Amino acid sequence: MSKILILNGSPRKNGNTYNLALSFAKGAEKNNDVEIISIRDYNINPCVGCNRCFENDGNACVQNDDMNLIYEKMKEADIVVIASPVYFYGISAQLKALVDRFHTPMRNSFKTKKLGLLLVGAAKIPELFDSIITQYELVLKFFKLDDIGRVLVSGVRETSDLSENDSTRAYELGAKL
Ligand SMILES: Cc1cc2nc3c(=O)[nH]c(=O)nc-3n(C[C@H](O)[C@H](O)[C@H](O)COP(=O)(O)O)c2cc1C
Repeated sequence: MSKILILNGSPRKNGNTYNLALSFAKGAEKNNDVEIISIRDYNINPCVGCNRCFENDGNACVQNDDMNLIYEKMKEADIVVIASPVYFYGISAQLKALVDRFHTPMRNSFKTKKLGLLLVGAAKIPELFDSIITQYELVLKFFKLDDIGRVLVSGVRETSDLSENDSTRAYELGAKL
């Protein structure tokens, strides 16, 4: 049994990202301990780039916000799943702010060995996810993490746009774990 942390980067309550993450979680929770963190429920500031965490006791960040809760969860999570809407060909600003806060030596205490990717976007163009996938693959390589897989859903704008087939793909990726 692995601990799986899903980081839902959409600010939209019960939106497409959340629903895709929920399907993934339902599949994964048969054999694993799964938690979905919706960033909209947390107060996480962007990194200010001061690098004080490299010197502070316990690598503490100068910002005392909800990122402290995420750091504690990262010390327990075997698998992290990045879930985001496409915002101008990137992940959401809210999720990017969280990811940037991993620029800390504290990350040496993170347990995570595997990453997954769940993305939704409104357009139907083939290159919709390219820039996010490039970033994702660079992160996998740099941190020597394994890829558990990806579910990429294009053509979804309204929450009713997510199809049964999209949800099944997410469920099945989760159920493989
Ligand atoms: C600020 C913003 C930027 C967006 N940029 C894109 C984009 O570049 N390409 C695209 O296909 N959809 C874009 N969208 C649409 C969302 O990706 C899409 O509606 C998605 O289903 C929203 O997911 P959610 O329900 O989880 O929030 C954007 C939406 C917002 C609010």
